[in-house]
Amino acid sequence: MDGVTDAAFRLVVARQGRPDVTFTEFTSVGDICRGPDFLLSSLIFSEEERPVVAQLYGKDPALFYQAAHVVCELGFDGLDINMGCPSRNVASSGSGAGLIKTPDLAHEIMRAARQGITDWAGGQPVAAVGLKQARVELIRAMNVNRSGRPDVPRRSIPLSVKTRLGYDSVVIEQWISHLLEERPAVISVHGRTLQQMYRGAADWAAIGRAARVAGGTETLLVGNGDIQSMQDVADRIREAQVQGVLVGRGALGTPWFFRNKEAARALANGSEATGPRLGERFDVQADRVERFRVMLEHARQFEALFGNDRFPRMRKHLGWYCKGFPHAAAMRARMVRASSSADVERIVADYALSEPLSAAVADVPARSAPPASLSCA
Ligand SMILES: Cc1cc2nc3c(=O)[nH]c(=O)nc-3n(C[C@H](O)[C@H](O)[C@H](O)COP(=O)(O)O)c2cc1C
Repeated sequence: MDGVTDAAFRLVVARQGRPDVTFTEFTSVGDICRGPDFLLSSLIFSEEERPVVAQLYGKDPALFYQAAHVVCELGFDGLDINMGCPSRNVASSGSGAGLIKTPDLAHEIMRAARQGITDWAGGQPVAAVGLKQARVELIRAMNVNRSGRPDVPRRSIPLSVKTRLGYDSVVIEQWISHLLEERPAVISVHGRTLQQMYRGAADWAAIGRAARVAGGTETLLVGNGDIQSMQDVADRIREAQVQGVLVGRGALGTPWFFRNKEAARALANGSEATGPRLGERFDVQADRVERFRVMLEHARQFEALFGNDRFPRMRKHLGWYCKGFPHAAAMRARMVRASSSADVERIVADYALSEPLSAAVADVPARSAPPASLSCA
């Protein structure tokens, strides 16, 4: 999620609950291939997050071919093409959900990305696809920071697509049939059209129809939209017969969301032996002390990775953590003005003085050494 699922958030999520797979913020293929260096910071990740998939957007197949080399060279576990972003500056230029209107171009892009993956796995040097030498050096430096090695083993990674039900009307059956011709490993469907943006409820019946179209193929169909709990995960998987779900906004301020995924999996499979019984509430409700610990760890990771200059980007996360406990609104009002992890620590300490929460302050962990991999040289 753009502006949200950066490397700091994903690391906290991986440590708190570990989803089966995680995605980067979407990144423009043009920026990857020839944009300024700092734009590659959306492709920083840590080994703890794996499997981690890089999500790209754009409309130029040649750039997808080049960018696929970069994604592979950085050691990602998959490449996902965004065909669902509704924002005006992305979709109206023909990228993101704009591709639903140009299925031939969508095909071409998928083929170019796959060819890039195949050629890279076959040994083609990333320096041979027209990237500037400085970009190649930056990729190597990112790898060294993450894993201590400048390069990664060559292998073919899966190609997937994330999309919506349609542009201005639901055309999901035809659209999925088009996409299936390119045999992506996974198609994720957000149950709204571009025109709906985020309005109304996600249409899981339409997602279920998409799953039926993809049934019997080797492509996994994953549904997305409005999942707020692990009970929702189990219910949607069972009802729509999808092979999995993506969770976005439900994990904001709750990076421990995925802790009980095994219980949801058991429920979705109809197994009562290993999971809680149907109807039983099994979401993790982290208590305040735990919540504040995670919030502070998140703030410190963010600062270590992106520095103070970019700390304002962290504020929305701080706001999301401040809900559902006494005087949360007052704390949120201060948090959204924080400029450093030290500010966050101070606000938590002040709160603890006014509430019986001394353990939260006393036990807040000392600055955990951020993995060196998280700072991009
Ligand atoms: C702030 C924000 C940023 C998003 N950025 C992306 C993105 O970069 N790539 C993407 O595929 N979807 C993006 N989405 C859409 C979400 O991935 C997801 O499809 C949508 O929010 C519905 O799922 P949810 O109800 O679980 O959040 C974004 C959504 C929001 C609210």
